[in-house]
Amino acid sequence: MSNGDDGSRPAQGAPGPPSPAPTASSATPLLRLRGIEKHFGAVQALYGVNLDLPAGAITCLVGDNGAGKSVLTRTISGIHQPDKGEVFWEGRPVHIRSPRDASRLGIETVYQDLALADNLDIVQNMFLGRERTRRGLLDEDSMEHTAKETLASLRVTTVRSIRQPVVSLSGGQRQSVAVAKAVMWNSKLVLLDEPTAALGVVQTAQVLALVRRLRDRGLGVMMISHNLNDVFEVADRIAVMYLGRIVAEKPASELDRQTTVQYMTTGGELYIAERQAALGA
Ligand SMILES: Nc1ncnc2c1ncn2[C@@H]1O[C@H](COP(=O)(O)OP(=O)(O)O)[C@@H](O)[C@H]1O
Ligand SMILES: [Mg+2]
Repeated sequence: MSNGDDGSRPAQGAPGPPSPAPTASSATPLLRLRGIEKHFGAVQALYGVNLDLPAGAITCLVGDNGAGKSVLTRTISGIHQPDKGEVFWEGRPVHIRSPRDASRLGIETVYQDLALADNLDIVQNMFLGRERTRRGLLDEDSMEHTAKETLASLRVTTVRSIRQPVVSLSGGQRQSVAVAKAVMWNSKLVLLDEPTAALGVVQTAQVLALVRRLRDRGLGVMMISHNLNDVFEVADRIAVMYLGRIVAEKPASELDRQTTVQYMTTGGELYIAERQAALGA
């Protein structure tokens, strides 16, 4: 992973367009975004994004293709730098300038495609780039022990051997290993970009069970998904993106599928009001 763009610095106190009132509990969220904007040349990918990601809750981020979900994820994980806006970690203002910065705070991301290296085994994957050494040599025993413990604690029990190459795993097992890898580093917030997109029914259920276990351990989880079945199965909170904006951010209990689809396809009242104001209507 590289730091994709380090050109612009976040400005302070940028006022964003109106956004729904935060619905998280009164506790300080792990991560709070306020007025985040991101351009790529002439393309504006994020507009005044406000979002809270509390600990001990699964926040599902939904939206049509191109809504900005991945750009938002990459901004939180330090690959992109916001042009404007503020980021608060446990209530303190922070600048996340690289994936390393994100890791230091306790933010880990599971990307849909580049999650694991096929030719390496499970232990090698889980420690990739952060290998443990002892007297100048790789400490295989210690890494193997920790990898095993982590998988066991998450009840990822279907892999035969943690020394098998990842290419030999099923899609669900791969995704489980990728998630386990993300939580092994004392992470507090895990971002999952479409973790079930390539999975069948049984494997999807396994990964969703794992996502719930992270939440039950007290981690904050942000899960992007296209699949509203998955979303309504695990979400405590739902945030809907539309054309680079968060147009709804609510407890899952306050949304149903039809309303969610409406937000995803029209942007809802908030977006319409904003456009009308912009057009002077
Ligand atoms: N690196 C990039 N350079 C230019 N435009 C980008 C880049 N990444 C994303 N975009 C644009 O930003 C918008 C949001 O993209 P993305 O976050 O990938 O959407 P989603 O994940 O919701 O499908 C799209 O219009 C996309 O083309
Ligand atoms: Mg995407």
